[in-house]
Amino acid sequence: MKFFLDTANIAEIEEAASWGVLAGVTTNPTLYAREGGKLADFHKHLKRICDIVDGPVSGETVCLKRDEIVREGEELAALAPNLVVKVPTMPEGLAATKALADKGIKVNMTLCFTVPQAILAARSGAAYVSPFVGRFDDISEDGIDQLEQVVVALNNYDFGHQVEVIAASIRSANHVTKAALMGADIATVPFGVLEKLVKHPLTDRGLESFLADWEKVKNA
Ligand code: G3P
Repeated sequence: MKFFLDTANIAEIEEAASWGVLAGVTTNPTLYAREGGKLADFHKHLKRICDIVDGPVSGETVCLKRDEIVREGEELAALAPNLVVKVPTMPEGLAATKALADKGIKVNMTLCFTVPQAILAARSGAAYVSPFVGRFDDISEDGIDQLEQVVVALNNYDFGHQVEVIAASIRSANHVTKAALMGADIATVPFGVLEKLVKHPLTDRGLESFLADWEKVKNA
């Protein structure tokens, strides 16, 4: 499993990159707004993220009509070679994905919740499909079960191009564990979840005990 950060926060991206574990970033307008981002600076901000990250950076389109999505997607893709255009799962999005893929521009199809949506995304040419986990949990359904169905279904077929599953809307270490066990290619996680993945109370206790023993050795 590869780890992407689901953020628009530069400090978080730089920190995760310094750990050597950052394989990519996904962003969306909500995350950008959370950083106090201004529309006029959106492309500049994405370019800055692309320069930091050694891997794909998904930047979401905000248009709803296919021609507008394609135009915006082309603008985004021109920012950096590692920019992936994030497009919502909808008929206009499928049409735009086909057009962008035909131009050699990679698409991450987002807001994907079902197996048919994921297969349609892959058929239209998406290089990445992002099934959402947490938002199913939010409506008292099993997001992990839905993700597993998508992983199994996509593995049943050859789409003629590489399609990677990004487990998205990840809220916990348990989500990541389950996604890894089922073989999801990528998990995109908020920085807070990434921090939790590194930690375990037994690791902390072991470290405390090593340090206490080391003090004894030093003072012996
Ligand atoms: O990439 C967007 C996705 O991860 C959204 O997550 O927590 O808003 O459902 P969330």
